[in-house]
Amino acid sequence: MRINGTRSICAGILYVLALAQQALAIELVATSEDSIKSAASTATYGMMTYYSGNDTGGIPGAFPSKWWEGSALLLALLNYWHFTGDDTYNDELSVALQWQGGTNGDYMPSNYSSFLGNDDQMFWGLSAMTAVEYKLPDRSTGFSWLSLAQGVFNTQKSRWDTTMCGGGLRWQIYVYEGTGYYMKNAVSNGGFFQLAARLYRYTGNEEYYTWAKKTWEWSCSVPLVNNKTWTIDDSTNGQEQCANGDQIQWTYNYGVYFGGCAYLYAKTNDEYWLNCTTGLLNTLFTTFFTEKNNYIISDWECETQGNCNNNEVLFKGLVTSWLAQTAMLIPSLYDEILAKLQATGQGAANSCTGDNNSTCGIRWTTGTWDGTSGMEQEISASNTFSVQMLPWIKDTEYGPPVTSTTGGNSTSDVNAGENESAGSSASTSSPITTGDRAGAGILTVVFVGGLLGMASFMFVGA
Ligand SMILES: *[C@@H]1O[C@H](CO)[C@@H](O)[C@H](O)[C@H]1NC(C)=O
Ligand SMILES: *[C@@H]1O[C@H](CO)[C@@H](O)[C@H](O)[C@H]1NC(C)=O
Ligand SMILES: *[C@@H]1O[C@H](CO)[C@@H](O)[C@H](O)[C@H]1NC(C)=O
Ligand SMILES: *[C@@H]1O[C@H](CO)[C@@H](O)[C@H](O)[C@H]1NC(C)=O
Repeated sequence: MRINGTRSICAGILYVLALAQQALAIELVATSEDSIKSAASTATYGMMTYYSGNDTGGIPGAFPSKWWEGSALLLALLNYWHFTGDDTYNDELSVALQWQGGTNGDYMPSNYSSFLGNDDQMFWGLSAMTAVEYKLPDRSTGFSWLSLAQGVFNTQKSRWDTTMCGGGLRWQIYVYEGTGYYMKNAVSNGGFFQLAARLYRYTGNEEYYTWAKKTWEWSCSVPLVNNKTWTIDDSTNGQEQCANGDQIQWTYNYGVYFGGCAYLYAKTNDEYWLNCTTGLLNTLFTTFFTEKNNYIISDWECETQGNCNNNEVLFKGLVTSWLAQTAMLIPSLYDEILAKLQATGQGAANSCTGDNNSTCGIRWTTGTWDGTSGMEQEISASNTFSVQMLPWIKDTEYGPPVTSTTGGNSTSDVNAGENESAGSSASTSSPITTGDRAGAGILTVVFVGGLLGMASFMFVGA
């Protein structure tokens, strides 16, 4: 009896501890709508604690030292609203998504435009395109979501560069940005490909298809996309005629390209585009959602060493949202994608036991918090929890991305952004005012030359 009594007291204490523990963790039950919405709400709230663009004196959508990340945060808000139906943050989202479009409506705002890469601008374009496809109402004044996406497309199209490797976009836009100006990388080109593919599916305008196809074919002609092994390298050096890829593997490089292929297949029904969707998805799954990790996504290039930078923490969250869209665009892929998303959602939830307040970590494969925290962690978790609502929304009007003929009504402007001076031709005369915003763009890989270039630029500019 006494032993039993002691045991039951112990059990009681353990139970209370477990409850306390649970309150500080994120519980995700794949079959429970409430549990998913609660998990997404917690991570999204955590994410928004890092956002001050809505505070007095704040600038909507602005993250001066990491400008592109604003687009990642807003994309997570778009996904949160679309998948869960909670519009708590939609006003802030809408204001910020338009604000950063700048005076030309092409996401080259003058506060940051001198320091950007094509990928930075592209991510804002994809977020605007997502607003179009999720039917976020255009604002009553200022640029429409569709025109903002078209503005990005038009400015990037004009930067297509045939002087190195026969085509493609450079990574960085301006020569003073250093080595990155001489690199051609997967995310800039794959992102432009996806944007063109989505504009084509949405508008039916053949010009977008021409550019999507041209960008895909060029990407396969250099060591970025290998369309036999279905592998994607991060970057290739234009000064060596793109002879070699760097073999560095990131989830989001697969994401931008498979997403573009999926949108093109949804529009054209052409097996060619289904083939590239499944080819790239197979590699993505076998490489980053391994059986060893219980099919939880991992960007192991940095996670293994525990040295992921802010950009890298965001990659896999972006991929979960492109996977969810692909599952709705191509129903034959739905089951396989959902299984990977659900496994990954559990991993992410298990990482959210930090700081006694459900803070999430970076490594989702370990079953526990990894001791890291930040806006980027919360963004990736938010995306990943929101898309768990796929089974509930996929067959509703809030499911698949719409087109202009299936409910989308954002205003088009095919000439958007065409007042912007083209990148490379303007590189010598671009407005250089202050140097303190250097570093606004993505720096996925550190190039010594790039940093020296940046440093000397800072001296020139200061
Ligand atoms: C969680 O706790 C940490 C450490 O006290 C704090 O910095 C962070 O803002 C908290 N997050 C939330 C969402 O309350
Ligand atoms: C942010 O903006 C919304 C609507 O514009 C407002 O309701 C909310 O109170 C604002 N939040 C803060 C912290 O200012
Ligand atoms: C640019 O900076 C000015 C001054 O801080 C600010 O008022 C404006 O809103 C900023 N624009 C953008 C697009 O961030
Ligand atoms: C577009 O549709 C939304 C609802 O989805 C509506 O609020 C808005 O007024 C419509 N805009 C136009 C220009 O028809």
